[in-house]
Amino acid sequence: MYGSDGINDDSERTAFRKTEKKYKLYYDSNSKSKSSKKKKQPRPVDLSEVIDFKSILESFARNGDLPAGISKLQYQFDKPVFCLDNCPGFYFIPAALSMEEQCRWIKESLVSFPQPPNRTNHHAFYGAIHNLFNAAKSKQVLVKEDITPGEDNSNALDVNYHNHRWASSEELDSYVNGNDFKPISAPVLLRKLRWSTLGLQFDWSKRSYNVSLPHNKIPDALRKLAKKMAAPAMAVGEEFQPEAAIVNYFGSGDMLGGHLDDMEADWSKPIVSMSLGCKAIFLLGGKSRNDEPLAMFLRSGDIVLMSGEARERFHGVPRIFTDVENAEIVSLEKQFSNEDDIDYLEYIRTSRININIRQVF
Ligand code: OGA
Ligand code: MN
Repeated sequence: MYGSDGINDDSERTAFRKTEKKYKLYYDSNSKSKSSKKKKQPRPVDLSEVIDFKSILESFARNGDLPAGISKLQYQFDKPVFCLDNCPGFYFIPAALSMEEQCRWIKESLVSFPQPPNRTNHHAFYGAIHNLFNAAKSKQVLVKEDITPGEDNSNALDVNYHNHRWASSEELDSYVNGNDFKPISAPVLLRKLRWSTLGLQFDWSKRSYNVSLPHNKIPDALRKLAKKMAAPAMAVGEEFQPEAAIVNYFGSGDMLGGHLDDMEADWSKPIVSMSLGCKAIFLLGGKSRNDEPLAMFLRSGDIVLMSGEARERFHGVPRIFTDVENAEIVSLEKQFSNEDDIDYLEYIRTSRININIRQVF
């Protein structure tokens, strides 16, 4: 799902790929000599066609006006829920999450969600990694655990590639690298964290849920929130059952290529998708990659629901904005102004987190 279709010739690109390319972050190479001190500038991008639900909400609140093609769902909810007339099953709830909720789920996404038995993209390479965020805070490094001959190492050997541990940088000075493993710093691993999975574990290599993998239930507070947010997209009398969640972490230049989420059994059930941190562009395409997608902004606190027919639409995130003018996280930054929160602040200033919650069966 992170893959690209690998086509370079513009004439062979799908409409989806062309739009991705339009919004993707590129740097203008304006420095001729290597020694030039000039900072690379992001290529300017025309955002005039991007649907902006924040301003739609504001004008709706002022005078009840809505742009053509967008309506407010007739549903008793504490926030307006908007629909696109041509996309049944797609719902947009701008600013659905309070600042406190956003902070809470950012913290959980960094501290508790990547904890084993939940898997992350680092698992395939390093095995289970514990306490990544705290290790990054104290600038620790991941080293390969020494296995002393003669001792009972049966456990360590058993887990084979699981034998990594955190070491302090002082300790690293005396660390004897007896194997090929190059110590890797926790801040780098945190920056390279791309996903973690909660509840039923999604196996990316097989692109399916592997119910035999050990897992914890999605935390109750997140289940409760997902049930509440899913309600506008549920049939009367039915309740959403959050069974799995994928947490995506985006840094500057990261994107999520066009894809379908098709491994869940019942597509009438929504995927509940929460945006946290820096603003992004979301592309909502059609059933074919050749259909031109709509672009819309996703801001911290927004919720998107995709259910029924909307689940057959290709979608992706070609761009996140990490520059001060476009990221739109000033109020979030204020929430993290406490000295104890400096590490969250530093992370979220240049990152976006997406939690998408699914009913699998
Ligand atoms: C996904 C997805 C969208 C987003 O993880 O399947 O579509 O907003 N995420 O990051
Ligand atoms: Mn998706």
